[in-house]
Amino acid sequence: MHQFIEDLAQHEGKEVTLKGWVYNARFGKANIFLELRDGTGFIQCVISQDMVSEEAFEAAKKLAREAALKLVGIVVKDERQMGGFEIQVSALEVYGYSKDYPIKVNENEHGARFLADKRHLWLRSKRQWAIMRVRNEIIMAIHEFFQTNGFVQMDSPIFTGNACEGTTELFETDFFGDPAYLSQSGQLYAEATALAMGRVYTFGPTFRAEKSDTPRHLSEFWMIEPEMAFFDLDMDMDLIENFTKHIVNRVIKNKRVELDTLGRDISKLENVNQKFPRVPYSEAVKILRGEVEVNGKNAIAIQEQDIEDAKKGIEEKTAEIAEREATIKSGVKKGVRKFNEAKIIVLRGEIAELEEKLRNLPKWITSAKNFEMGSDFGNSDETVLTRVFDAPVMVYNWPAKIKSFYMKEVDGNPDLVKGVDLLAPDGFGEIVGGSERETDLDILVRKIKEHDLPMEAFEWYVDLRRFGSVPHSGFGLGLERMVRWICDIHHLRETIPFPRRYGRLLP
Ligand code: 4AD
Ligand code: MG
Repeated sequence: MHQFIEDLAQHEGKEVTLKGWVYNARFGKANIFLELRDGTGFIQCVISQDMVSEEAFEAAKKLAREAALKLVGIVVKDERQMGGFEIQVSALEVYGYSKDYPIKVNENEHGARFLADKRHLWLRSKRQWAIMRVRNEIIMAIHEFFQTNGFVQMDSPIFTGNACEGTTELFETDFFGDPAYLSQSGQLYAEATALAMGRVYTFGPTFRAEKSDTPRHLSEFWMIEPEMAFFDLDMDMDLIENFTKHIVNRVIKNKRVELDTLGRDISKLENVNQKFPRVPYSEAVKILRGEVEVNGKNAIAIQEQDIEDAKKGIEEKTAEIAEREATIKSGVKKGVRKFNEAKIIVLRGEIAELEEKLRNLPKWITSAKNFEMGSDFGNSDETVLTRVFDAPVMVYNWPAKIKSFYMKEVDGNPDLVKGVDLLAPDGFGEIVGGSERETDLDILVRKIKEHDLPMEAFEWYVDLRRFGSVPHSGFGLGLERMVRWICDIHHLRETIPFPRRYGRLLP
């Protein structure tokens, strides 16, 4: 049996066998330094000529990135290393050599499309490793939360005969000669199972055929949908809040190394440990337009400050590039030159990002200032709105005409429905959408017709209002949206092992 990098603290001073891949290699005359990865972590391994056989040292000289090997060595404490240890190697055996591995250690030097094409290899990089480990922790946290709070996992079907979230975003398939759709949401079935089991949750893939190539849309993503009998909207919001806190806190507790690898500012995540503001839609609109301030913060003023900061950032970074270029020209050693060249590449990337911000911010401000009461928030509106809050914010009581047919009307105001969106801070936007469900048979039938949905396909759903209809509520969490926020990454394509999105089916 071999050992794993994440367990090495238990083996300090002892001999271990590690099996993994070369993440990076540096070759000295008498020493070879390997950074080994085994899926559980990364560790520096030192192969000294006088500590291993001649044959082993010769074999080690031919190692390159992503060669696979077995190493035997002593675990030595070294505070400078990730994880606090390194391995003094005594023997090694190569499983498979690797030549011309296409991805550089600094993946920022590649374009997004190149990395996406190489997703099957890209997953081996440190950053992707960290993201996937956080994703796994989130999944564990979700099951833990529900399983220890009296919920039963009830899976909804993937082949469905009806739409849940609007008919324009459906992938149609052939189900033994009949049209069927890949599920957009497990909710309608979760309503049926909630009335059978009390409190349930689904955890499954969902599909949306939107042709939108944005950082926050996938065609296939994983959704978690709890549904609870005898819950009203307030109870639903309490659950969303407790659930979100549980996930974030568990990740902070158990995935510190991964969050550090991603450069995540953990203090910002810790902001979940306060009451989440709950804002009615109509109030949110006023905040967005800058008509109402929150804790002395004005949404529009913050954007204007961002413009000034971006301008200043570009100036500073341009000056730094000039300085580094001068250093390179002055004829420094190869190592120093390389170091400066790498820094310049990163700086250019940061400038490009700031320039994009400068192009976008004025549009965002215009959109926010002129936002029309009754319409849906766009991506930028969500970003602008959430900037005045530190914690995730819940926007509730939405205009009926921009929300789904199944949402319950607000008492005495049929133009509004009891829906709620959870918006994450720092521009991450909507991560949860939920609502109290319409329980009245006649209103529900009217809504199905108003939304132009085929009544036959919904007969079974309407039945739920015929036999012991009760108030009930639920919500849907987009797993990848949660991963994106917790890891602080720009694009959903990095939040799932093999993303499926508009224009991307391979690998
Ligand atoms: O807001 P949505 O459309 O709500 C529903 O589907 C409800 N039936 C949920 C319920 O009440 N049971 O989607 C829920 C969440 C969104 O908040 C978002 O996090 C995620 O699913 N989501 C997407 N994630 C990635 N790519 C997409 N195209 C997504 N569309 C929605
Ligand atoms: Mg939504």
